[in-house]
Amino acid sequence: MNPLRWRRIEQAFDRPFGAALNPWRNLGALGFLLFWLLAVSGIYLYAVLDTSAGGAYASIDRLSRQQWYLGGVMRSLHRYAADGFVLVMAAHLLRELLLGHYAAFRRFSWWTGVPLLVFGFVCAIGGFWLNWDRLGQFSAQATAEWIDALPLLATPLTRNFLSAGAVSDRLFSLFVFVHLGVPLLLVFGLWFHIQRISRAAVFPPRALAFGTIAMLLALALAAPVMSHAPADLAIEPTTLALDWIALFVHPLGAAIGHGAVWLLVAALLAALLLLPWLRTTHAAQAPVAVVNPLSCNGCRRCFDDCPYAAVTMVQHPLRRSRQLAQVDADLCASCGICVGACPSSTPFRSAAELVTGIDMPSAPIGELRARLQRELGAMNPDAPRFVVFGCDHGAAVSTLAAPDVAVFSLMCTGQLPPSFIEYALRDGADGVLITACQGTGCEFRLGQRWSEERLDGAREPHLRAQVPRARLTTAWADPGQERELAAALQRLRRQVQHNVATPAVASTVGA
Ligand code: HEM
Ligand code: SF4
Ligand code: SF4
Repeated sequence: MNPLRWRRIEQAFDRPFGAALNPWRNLGALGFLLFWLLAVSGIYLYAVLDTSAGGAYASIDRLSRQQWYLGGVMRSLHRYAADGFVLVMAAHLLRELLLGHYAAFRRFSWWTGVPLLVFGFVCAIGGFWLNWDRLGQFSAQATAEWIDALPLLATPLTRNFLSAGAVSDRLFSLFVFVHLGVPLLLVFGLWFHIQRISRAAVFPPRALAFGTIAMLLALALAAPVMSHAPADLAIEPTTLALDWIALFVHPLGAAIGHGAVWLLVAALLAALLLLPWLRTTHAAQAPVAVVNPLSCNGCRRCFDDCPYAAVTMVQHPLRRSRQLAQVDADLCASCGICVGACPSSTPFRSAAELVTGIDMPSAPIGELRARLQRELGAMNPDAPRFVVFGCDHGAAVSTLAAPDVAVFSLMCTGQLPPSFIEYALRDGADGVLITACQGTGCEFRLGQRWSEERLDGAREPHLRAQVPRARLTTAWADPGQERELAAALQRLRRQVQHNVATPAVASTVGA
């Protein structure tokens, strides 16, 4: 599917939720939230669970019937959070796949996500065995048959289910081991998954988090999870309320054969693991950021702002008391956000050629200054002039190009040092429009957020207070939202007309 088409689907959810709370835009963070809910409710359940084959069923069933208001709710919450976790994980994978987020600098996140799929499903399926009812019995037996389809074990696992006495406390300990051990692998895997991402969004916005918890609690109260009859190996379970989200693999095995399911799983995992090699993205071909040691003062701003932890600070080879930024080419997303962060990127420097501390070889900041001067100089000085700075991945700024509007599409809006806004206004622009994707839709994760914070004065380098805000507007618009962009430019035109009395920025520069 074309990523643009996917964005449209995602944008449809912006209307009811708002872009910041849109679940599609917060899937990784929702996955973490569900994981912690599973951990908390799981610890509670483990505290009251009788971990013997004979006592497990009664200990859990008692919770649902005698202590429905707490233990029962915890049990249902655990089940629904597990289903939610599996769904969110699948949706997160689908989203990243459809947006083409699996190659180049994202390879690491993609590859480390694949084992999470396996761990997630093993945890979810294993949980059903601990509640030793007919559904747990069905799942444990079906899993044993599935594993036996591979020539791995000398004695088939299914032998453990031949008679009631065969399911010993030892086998039950194995169930407990799977259901407690694999989540530990999952924690480690999740930690690893976000290692190459700076400031990973591991907690959803508060309203979305509370909304999710409230929804799960409402579900737990409205449709509490109850056990089937106790497991009985003498009886083949027939009518079961199957959890299709976690256990769909069992009916699939029955329909197409366990061997075929193994083949399917192996093919799927192999395809996912090979995918990053099959496609090189635009970003993979773009030259990565380059540090200029003579202009780097070691301030660490690029290190702080890089969304993919591609910058490290090392000892400056020429100046002993200073540090120097260093870019790891394998991690660099070629987003240019570091250029926007660098204090040396200011266009007010008098040097004929603007050389900054860290720059993008394919779109040097000096060239942006030269183009800005050229385009403003070529416009009619007797009519209002506008400058639009946007991003190659957001709403297309080229749609706004006009004789009185100069448009600049950057690698990411975060590439723009805020001083360029002041510079454009001083050089003759009457209004500046800054546009980037909606926060959670930023192709490079943090570009929109840093841009907004720099404009608000909450992040360095910040837009100076002297810059008349009436001559500046922002529009956070994703690709496909060009109409919103055009409306923002109209707003800016009106704003500028109504504020003709606003002092020109030229008189304030250097004040
Ligand atoms: C339930 C398990 C998972 C959780 C909780 C999870 C969580 C996260 C989080 C929190 C992020 C960072 C988001 C951000 O700050 O922008 C992330 C990024 C990512 N995840 Fe996952 N993830 C999971 C499974 C997967 C799977 C199965 C895949 C694919 C195989 C995957 C692929 C990715 C990719 C490619 C990114 C990078 C996105 C980017 O660079 O914009 N994840 N994940
Ligand atoms: S271009 Fe982007 S990913 Fe590369 S070093 Fe700069 S901020 Fe980091
Ligand atoms: S932001 Fe610029 S000056 Fe600061 S460490 Fe990075 S390259 Fe050097």
